[in-house]
Amino acid sequence: MPEAGCYTTRMKKHRLVVANWKMNPSTIGEAKRIFMAIRAKLKPSAVPVVIAPPAPYITELSKLSMGKRTTLGAQNIFPGKVGPHTGEVSTPMLRSLGVTHVIVGHSERRAMGETDAEVNEKTKQLLKEQIMPIVCIGETERADSGAHFETVERQLRAALAGVPKAQAVKVAVAYEPVWAISKGDGKGLTATAAAVHEMQIFIRRVLTDLFGRSSAASMRILYGGSVNADNADELISAAAVDGFLVGGASLEPKAFAAIVKAAQQ
Ligand code: PGA
Repeated sequence: MPEAGCYTTRMKKHRLVVANWKMNPSTIGEAKRIFMAIRAKLKPSAVPVVIAPPAPYITELSKLSMGKRTTLGAQNIFPGKVGPHTGEVSTPMLRSLGVTHVIVGHSERRAMGETDAEVNEKTKQLLKEQIMPIVCIGETERADSGAHFETVERQLRAALAGVPKAQAVKVAVAYEPVWAISKGDGKGLTATAAAVHEMQIFIRRVLTDLFGRSSAASMRILYGGSVNADNADELISAAAVDGFLVGGASLEPKAFAAIVKAAQQ
């Protein structure tokens, strides 16, 4: 059984690192090469790692040797189970391929029209199917007025509306300020560790309000947005996040392995 991201309410919270490959690379051959290179660089004792490739690559990658701590994720789902939904991919399909985590509400999908209500529906569907949703939230810009806190709180409450307290611990939240996400070149702005720390505390407070102190304390809060081999150490220690959602740098095995190592401290 895959172990990455296993959770029970009694289990100590593990950190988690998720690779969001987005719409990269262009061929299955290249995807296999990157996947194998990452696998070769990860120590058996590494924190749980989830690789979320483009959906068409999942089947082939699932045939490769995973190691105990690495599993596959997906970048989106359609919240129905079967039926006339041309072009969509369902949770049971992904589950049958061994997918353990799915990213929902990524800002790049929200920019294409995904609504808070859809993020909520997908989150609940994933929980029903025992797949961990990685719920992405984050403001598009920072304002002196502090409006970014309101944005994050609204997205969080909307995404988790109706999630029973007992299931809250099966959700991971990824704080990804949109302005910090790289445009595919790995060179975006990074939020300072102090700013991420402040938001991490704020998110935990909202989660506590929603689910109570003990459940909120067990939930993972990840950070994403231009995480790289140089800033991962500081982010994990000073921002006190529970791991990372990594875009551009997750396609570079050496950099990604360094990020996973940082998450292990
Ligand atoms: P980035 O992407 O690490 O390339 O900034 C993060 C994400 O969008 O999940």
